[in-house]
Amino acid sequence: MTETQFTPRVFSGIQPSGNLHLGNYLGALKRFVDMQQPDMETIYCMVDLHAITVWQDPKELAHSTRELCAGFIAAGLDPDKSILFNQSQVPEHAQLAWIFNCVARMGWMQRMTQWKDKAGKNQQNASLGLFAYPSLMAADILTYHATHVPVGDDQKQHLELTRDIAIKFNHDYGVDFFPITEPVIEGAATRVMSLRDGSKKMSKSDPSDMSRINMTDDADTIAKKIRKAKTDPDALPSEIDGLEDRPEARNLVNIYAALSDQTVDQVLAAVGGKQFGEFKPMLAELAVEKLAPISSEMARLMGEEAEIDRILGKGAEKARAIAAPILQQTYEIVGMVSSKQG
Ligand code: TRP
Repeated sequence: MTETQFTPRVFSGIQPSGNLHLGNYLGALKRFVDMQQPDMETIYCMVDLHAITVWQDPKELAHSTRELCAGFIAAGLDPDKSILFNQSQVPEHAQLAWIFNCVARMGWMQRMTQWKDKAGKNQQNASLGLFAYPSLMAADILTYHATHVPVGDDQKQHLELTRDIAIKFNHDYGVDFFPITEPVIEGAATRVMSLRDGSKKMSKSDPSDMSRINMTDDADTIAKKIRKAKTDPDALPSEIDGLEDRPEARNLVNIYAALSDQTVDQVLAAVGGKQFGEFKPMLAELAVEKLAPISSEMARLMGEEAEIDRILGKGAEKARAIAAPILQQTYEIVGMVSSKQG
């Protein structure tokens, strides 16, 4: 089977389950924007069906979905260039996921580290949806025959499972139907760590709000959080080796590099030798310059709920135009009788 029969198509998803923060922006949104190019079809999904694998308050779920859409657009995704939609408006995802539930094996699912982490000690009390989560994720990707999937490295195992599902489906039914998807894993440079602990990922669930920069923070809050970020007493090195064993210093330099579209080497060549007392205000200024316009655009869009809903609806229509024929062919391959008049 050749993979070249599939045209390059990017798909990725983010859960609408809480506030967007700098880690989501640098690790996902900004990369999604970079991939939005004329020779690439880009499809970005707010995965609301994945979000409810753990409890979500209905009002907050709707709010988070719209806020995520506003964040996508404010960060630079253009609804005329990328397909933006929420997962539940395209029923083919859930329909294909059912087929994949019958392809994937219990043993494959039980090995997923995210399942083990999220279900914790009380697996009996976890939702069936949480267990089947990776099968829905495979359906998200494969119902578009997507070839490239940008994700954080915590999703690598789920992408391997997606490949396993595609391979087993193709093998069991004797077809070359689903592509073997390439993961586009986020590099260390875009992995944003907590501002309070350089060994932990920046996370919406960290109890300390000072550990993260939210995309809705105003300029003063952003500057304050950077000023108070944990550091060590040494000056910045002029070479990357000097950041080893200095996770907090490394994180702030990484953030600076990502926000200014430079490499870490370039940044260190310019700031090596400076103390944090001098570097932090530079970083704060840069962060405010890059993030404040995004947060104010998000706030503006959130004032126009009907416009957001219209964008999601149009995106879902475009997505369905791709997904429906692929699901139909899948049903035919599997042997589902269809009596609809053509
Ligand atoms: N599981 C992904 C995460 O938590 C979100 C996701 C769902 C996704 N479906 C996807 C990512 C499909 C890429 C492709 O980050």
